[in-house]
Amino acid sequence: MSQLETPLFDVLLKHRNRHPIQFHIPGHKKGQGMDPAFREFVGDNVLSIDLINIAPLDDLHSPKGAIKEAQDLAAEAFGADHTFFSVQGTSGAIMTMILSVVGPGDKILVPRNVHKSTMSAIVLSGAIPIFIAPEVDKEYGIAHGISVESVEKALKTFPDAKAMLVINPTYFGFATDLKRIVDMVHEHNIPVIVDEAHGVHIKFHDELPLSAMQAGADMAATSVHKLGGSMTGSSVLNVREGLVSVNRVQSVLSMLTTTSTSYPLLASLDCARRQLAVHGYDLIDECLRLAKDARKRINKIPHLKVAGREILHSSATYDMDPTKILISVKDLGITGHQAEEWLRNNANIEVELSDLYNILCLITLGDTKKEINLLVNALQRMSQEYELKAAVTETIVNVPDIPALAMTPRDAFYASTEVMPLDESAGYICAEFIMVYPPGIPIFIPGEIITEDNIEYIKMNVEAGLPVQGPEDLTLKTIRVIKERMPII
Ligand SMILES: Cc1ncc(COP(=O)(O)O)c(C=O)c1O
Repeated sequence: MSQLETPLFDVLLKHRNRHPIQFHIPGHKKGQGMDPAFREFVGDNVLSIDLINIAPLDDLHSPKGAIKEAQDLAAEAFGADHTFFSVQGTSGAIMTMILSVVGPGDKILVPRNVHKSTMSAIVLSGAIPIFIAPEVDKEYGIAHGISVESVEKALKTFPDAKAMLVINPTYFGFATDLKRIVDMVHEHNIPVIVDEAHGVHIKFHDELPLSAMQAGADMAATSVHKLGGSMTGSSVLNVREGLVSVNRVQSVLSMLTTTSTSYPLLASLDCARRQLAVHGYDLIDECLRLAKDARKRINKIPHLKVAGREILHSSATYDMDPTKILISVKDLGITGHQAEEWLRNNANIEVELSDLYNILCLITLGDTKKEINLLVNALQRMSQEYELKAAVTETIVNVPDIPALAMTPRDAFYASTEVMPLDESAGYICAEFIMVYPPGIPIFIPGEIITEDNIEYIKMNVEAGLPVQGPEDLTLKTIRVIKERMPII
């Protein structure tokens, strides 16, 4: 089959054009049984392919027909031996990777700045995480990837590890020297699995960092929906044969996946793969051109600064994706969250994320010169508005230390717990996840010892209006900790 074809989308269209009389779910039956306002809004086309795994349409849980053909074409496009489609986002693909390679008591090497789906899978699997500290950027207040040197140290200390997870590239677009990490970890016969949520496009242009499959990794969870043009919630899991069992990956994915798999999502993956394979280079080339122009112009705006190649100085910051525009606003005397709100209220612009010091804007296949001009223009106006504040403010970047792990996340998750005031909780073992989403990187995970500086960091984020998520108490006045056991007298 050629990359020009879309076998799954074609089968859905063929089926729809036969106008079969449906006595199966979904009960809306091509939209006829649906709320008219919603039906009219989304249109009959998408509703007519909102179908279920009847024989002509194949079954994601055991693909033999059109889904298999679509997955095989995707594998060829991504340079993988096998590709599995996910309708549960990259989170579903990450959980599948982890549950396929580790079980209870197995050690897995992971960067501490993992997405919450990695920690969820670690709790579910009962594996023991061995955390590797990511390189921290004190200028921008962000975490990068892990260095080759720290992986080397981790392998020496824990040669019995069963797997290694790498995030590459990071949310902010920075890439580690993945090829060296893969080669080194493979010398120990340990599989390397990659959270490639922010890198679906990197395989398709030679000016971008190496993709997980190009670097020889064993598996990669790759968000097609984030930057590759498919619909939200669709993603792929790419697999290389050798150190992992493809059959086990298929059965774990099936365990974690709904039996009612969305065909519009699957078809959008099929078509996004065609677009990337056939036109990816040219489309990404245009993105890179727009991004370079945006970077140059934003860097000329007083008090704003875009993170670029000048911050690449180690094996953890080895390469970068220039389409991620990370703009530091701290010299304007405002937080990233304030900048996000200013852009929303004054320019109708929505950014990808904000944190205490930065905003992140993504230039993708969907952008043109017009959007870049609007962004640059709005940033110029924002800079002028805060000019006076910028002159008198000096912002110190606060990046808290990584808390120590006192017990496995799974033991902590299932332990007896109690609720106590956040302010008094330093020294106790945390029993819940607390993170700022996006980016969804935990400040605390179950099993970690609560520290004063991390309590302070949580408060700074809450005060700045950033979305601190995870705890039962959404006001964050209290926190759930492991119950202290007093001696029985
Ligand atoms: C680094 C990283 N990994 C995984 C994910 C999960 O991806 P998804 O939202 O497709 O489940 C995200 C989402 O933001 C992410 O930033």
